[in-house]
Amino acid sequence: MLINNIQHAAKFIALGEIIGIPTETVYGLAGHGYQEKAIEKIYALKNRPKINPLILHYDSAEMASCDVVWTEKAQLLAKAFWPGPLTIVLEKSKTCRVPPVASASLSSIAIRVPSHPLLRLLLAACDAPLAAPSANPSGYISPTTAEHVKRFFDIPVLDGGFCKYGLESTVIDCRKEVTLLRPGAVSCEAIKFVLGHSMEIYSGYKPISPGLLENHYAPSKALRMNANEIASGEGLLAFGEPSCQPPHLFQLSLKRDLSEAAARLFAGMHALDLSSCKSIAVMPIPEEGIGLAINDRLFRAIS
Ligand code: TXA
Ligand code: MG
Repeated sequence: MLINNIQHAAKFIALGEIIGIPTETVYGLAGHGYQEKAIEKIYALKNRPKINPLILHYDSAEMASCDVVWTEKAQLLAKAFWPGPLTIVLEKSKTCRVPPVASASLSSIAIRVPSHPLLRLLLAACDAPLAAPSANPSGYISPTTAEHVKRFFDIPVLDGGFCKYGLESTVIDCRKEVTLLRPGAVSCEAIKFVLGHSMEIYSGYKPISPGLLENHYAPSKALRMNANEIASGEGLLAFGEPSCQPPHLFQLSLKRDLSEAAARLFAGMHALDLSSCKSIAVMPIPEEGIGLAINDRLFRAIS
């Protein structure tokens, strides 16, 4: 069921139900952030391992303040990027009301203040944060439209159209040294600019964030990266002018614009996965700006 009434959506949340929500990054599976039973339902629906903690979405940084211990760097980043696609990991406060199951019993929680206008209205109508992972079955391609969510979950979905960024938020640990845990919609360059110094970044796509332990974002078909030529039966995720025109081609960005490609990446993976091509080839994507996050998702889809 697609819904467009904020009060109905808030009612579902208050009653401990799970609904699909739009965000500026990808769609989420949202439940009441202070209700343990609602959070348990999210894990069950997604078939998500309990060791993979969730992100808590707040109406404002002030609202998050009773649940976390702020650091100077976290405040700097929150001021620069919220509302928006940056998730900050901080220590839980002594007064934290988020049940341990949401954060896989870690001493930290991941928080963000999203910018999607419909979600902002919903958060204003709820008296709690929303716990929300991306609205895909664990391991599968993330959803960037309400239709993608409906493909897998029989739940009410608040239809907020096509997600602007199309890639998940950047996850940053701000407890001591600032550490990038997951590249995402906010580029490392932008974060470094705000911090005024370089931050520690894990290299070689080694998993640090608990949720990065498993492969993710994967279509049901085989996928290969950095393809300059394609084989018979392969579908193509193109970035710029392709060397040939296979029957199943999804153009990420003809003008080789990385933001446009990021916004269209998961939609392209969904489209080719549903098409009759046998496997998927992806043209090379430069490893700069948001290209880092695009290649991260592609790499995880094949590993
Ligand atoms: O853009 C997004 O972030 C979307 C939308 C719905 O907000 N959400 C999303 O959630 O991508 P999910 O559950 O698919 O990914 C959350 C990531 C996982 O890699 C998880 O391990 C990490 O955040 N995470 C959550 N809590 C953490 C914590 N306390 N410490 C380290 N990593 C954490
Ligand atoms: Mg996810």
